[in-house]
Amino acid sequence: MTMDYKDNVLYFDDINILEFAQSNQTPFYLYSENIIKNNYNSYSESFGSHSHNICYSVKANSNLSILSLLAKLGSGFDIVSGGELTRVLRAGGDPTKIVFSGVGKSEEEIIQALDNNIMCFNVESKDELNTINKIAKQKKTKANISFRVNPAINVNTHPYITTGMRDNKFGIEQSEIISLYKDASSLDGISIVGIDFHIGSQIMEIEPYLESLIKIIAIVDNLDALGIPLKHIDIGGGLGISYEDESIVDKKLFLSEIIQIIGDRKLTLVIEPGRSIVGESGLLVTKIINIKESSAKSFAITDAGMNDLMRPPLYQAYHSIREVFRQPVSKATYDVVGPICETADFLGKDRVLSISQGDFLAIENVGAYGFSLASNYNTRPKIDEYIVSNNNVNKIRTRDTIDQILENEIKFIQN
Ligand code: LLP
Repeated sequence: MTMDYKDNVLYFDDINILEFAQSNQTPFYLYSENIIKNNYNSYSESFGSHSHNICYSVKANSNLSILSLLAKLGSGFDIVSGGELTRVLRAGGDPTKIVFSGVGKSEEEIIQALDNNIMCFNVESKDELNTINKIAKQKKTKANISFRVNPAINVNTHPYITTGMRDNKFGIEQSEIISLYKDASSLDGISIVGIDFHIGSQIMEIEPYLESLIKIIAIVDNLDALGIPLKHIDIGGGLGISYEDESIVDKKLFLSEIIQIIGDRKLTLVIEPGRSIVGESGLLVTKIINIKESSAKSFAITDAGMNDLMRPPLYQAYHSIREVFRQPVSKATYDVVGPICETADFLGKDRVLSISQGDFLAIENVGAYGFSLASNYNTRPKIDEYIVSNNNVNKIRTRDTIDQILENEIKFIQN
């Protein structure tokens, strides 16, 4: 059991959160190495003997220690910027297991990726293909590419995190894809290696993947008949986690159904999971600065705000919130809000809690798109991050100082 109460005190991975919060500055993120390892291993064990590459999606949580942990487990990486590439390299990741996604890769980023021999560019448009070809030719090399196909599939998730619907900016329309592969096959700077799709995030069902895959496999077979054989098929990321008792997709069942559709085609299966590896591994621990009652509502005002955790205001996302010490006082209903000057600055609404000023709260399932979406809004430092490894808590990031936040501006003040 990762989360548990003993004598009304919350334990996470056997760590007494009350003691830890009392002796360290709040707010902070705390992750569980065990959960990350278990999620990674349950993916890797589910492939059976099928050739595969798990490319962890760096955007979900890009802390260097977490990338290093995954690199040591053998993970590849899905990146979307030169910055993420630098992170993976600094963390000891293998560049030949990197796929580079995203609709707008800059020339500098393409050069950096070519210089580091990444496994594949997931190409999103004809313009991008031509840019990559031009740069690869200048460098007298060949860029490995796959095209990202838009499978035009409706997915049941928040509209901001669907990516494979007809009107999303992502992927290439199926009607254009064959002619694009043909064009690419004649380019000197391009080596065609795969095909790719990604239909969205926080997906709780297998069917949209299977429907998409059937469409993509038809394209693969078509290309094969045209003399353009592919080495891999990348089905993206997107499997959801349980934020509020939702039932989640079983990874083994998911991959076995995918592998069944691939059949005896000699295609390495690439996946790009983010949330389903790190999401459940993270807690955000925050202190209640004040309790404020109005005639309409009671507010618990915390030292963590929307700059630390963007998901509630951005997607109306639900994260469960627990008392770190369960007070023997009666429960009441609170909006848990941050100190930022925005009405959207909330962590949870209408939560039933027994709390008073100075108590700590733990916000659950924030390992993915928690810290990675954090900002310095209101000139607030990005906070400390810790990880529990073998029953010890290790610091993996120190909070920004205000001087660091000001550093890149201060020299420009005109006298
Ligand atoms: N591959 C590609 C091309 C992606 O765009 C994404 C996520 C992933 C993989 C990883 O997806 P995952 O397995 O984590 O679902 N900020 C939002 C989620 C945005 C997801 C964007 N793309 C949130 O907090 O819910």
